[in-house]
Amino acid sequence: MSRLGQAPTADVLDAGERLSREEMRALQLERLQATLVLAYDKVPHYRAAFDQAGVKPTDCRSLEDLARFPLTTKLDLRDNYPFAMFAVPRTDVRRIHASSGTTGRPTVVGYTQRDLDTWADLMARSIRAAGGRPGDTVHVAYGYGLFTGGLGAHYGAERLGCTVIPMSGGMTPRQVQLIHDFEPTIIMVTPSYMLALLDEFERQGLDPRESSLKIGIFGAEPWTEAMRAEIEDRLDVHAVDIYGLSEVMGPGVAQECVETKDGLHIWEDHFYPEVIDPTTGDTLPDGEPGELVFTSLTKEALPIIRYRTRDLTRLLPGTARPGFRRMEKITGRSDDMIILRGVNVFPTQLEEIVLRTEGLAPHFQVVLSRDGRMDALTVRVEARPDCPPNRRNSAAQDVAEAVKDRVGVTVLVEVVDPDTLERSLGKLQRVIDRRTNG
Ligand code: DLL
Repeated sequence: MSRLGQAPTADVLDAGERLSREEMRALQLERLQATLVLAYDKVPHYRAAFDQAGVKPTDCRSLEDLARFPLTTKLDLRDNYPFAMFAVPRTDVRRIHASSGTTGRPTVVGYTQRDLDTWADLMARSIRAAGGRPGDTVHVAYGYGLFTGGLGAHYGAERLGCTVIPMSGGMTPRQVQLIHDFEPTIIMVTPSYMLALLDEFERQGLDPRESSLKIGIFGAEPWTEAMRAEIEDRLDVHAVDIYGLSEVMGPGVAQECVETKDGLHIWEDHFYPEVIDPTTGDTLPDGEPGELVFTSLTKEALPIIRYRTRDLTRLLPGTARPGFRRMEKITGRSDDMIILRGVNVFPTQLEEIVLRTEGLAPHFQVVLSRDGRMDALTVRVEARPDCPPNRRNSAAQDVAEAVKDRVGVTVLVEVVDPDTLERSLGKLQRVIDRRTNG
């Protein structure tokens, strides 16, 4: 299969995708002003926060003025648990989703009927940008339930005119059996769970490259170009990136186009992106790396103003869809960044290295421990089934050297037997922190 997919013909694009940059900015300002009014009038949290910052919705006369408004964090949503951030009466809320959160209260989000329609439209647009068309069959292996992945993908695929297989996560052998029998052309799943499915194909004696799948739409966790190469090679599909978060909508906030595979176009007719310096909170110019911040432009139930995603990336001009800006593939979350003896380490940097090392499988864990007063990082990685035993030591050495060279820090590398590390069924928990305080 060629590296890049086919561009859609112009008649396939929707009205938003055909806007010029100037038209887009005019539409954004109009929608932004209305959203600020809605938030200020209907949500006590925003009224208090704007008042405290000394700004009123009418102070926003240009898109740049948004930087004067206060940022919103996950804590603000938790403090207003469960429904106090909603801008509409509860009876107008058609659906609730929630993200579990590791401690304490979950984050609750809500949608009006119009919000659900917008979401389905944007997911349909995303699947189309990935190369999907009406008539495709879509295997959805994102989790169904309070997580936005499954239902978000589901209604988008239906909206586009596809046949949906609502598989959800888990029951790995059955997933492979149904892919074999129902012959879907598109799979939507986390990249880490795709790896588990690929191993299962091989366990069942099936060649994944011979499957009916042509496109994989992967997201909900960071993944790298090396992972794209691994999946495209083993499954013979176009692997493209989809991004989103529940607080802003769910999947379908940004999507990579199959004809360029050069980062994700942000659907800017509905979400206004900014990148800020994570420490000072200052807005950064396009092209500079920092923390992604989103303001919703059309949401009714949960308008969100300057939401700090904690995701690290930078904004770039649009390519395949020039009306929208792109975001580079996410490097990681600021809260996933490991500071090891003063050096910043992202699990994605380790992923790039492990996946490019001969003899090693793409399954690895990052274990943090403390030996006396020194922090240590161990990369535990599986050997590929065909890796000769005498290659294991040199593979471990290769990884350690590459990490030292490219990241600038000494790590321990342990190569373990194939099929011994726990597999993810959805979002992967890559880092295990065994450091105790003190
Ligand atoms: O993960 C929504 C989603 C579902 C996106 C399916 C794509 C596919 P949350 O559970 O609220 O929502 O988690 C959002 O996941 O802030 C990122 O840290 C991470 N994330 C999502 N997509 C990507 C991606 C869904 N493509 C959080 N690359 C976000 C990197 C991603 N990280």
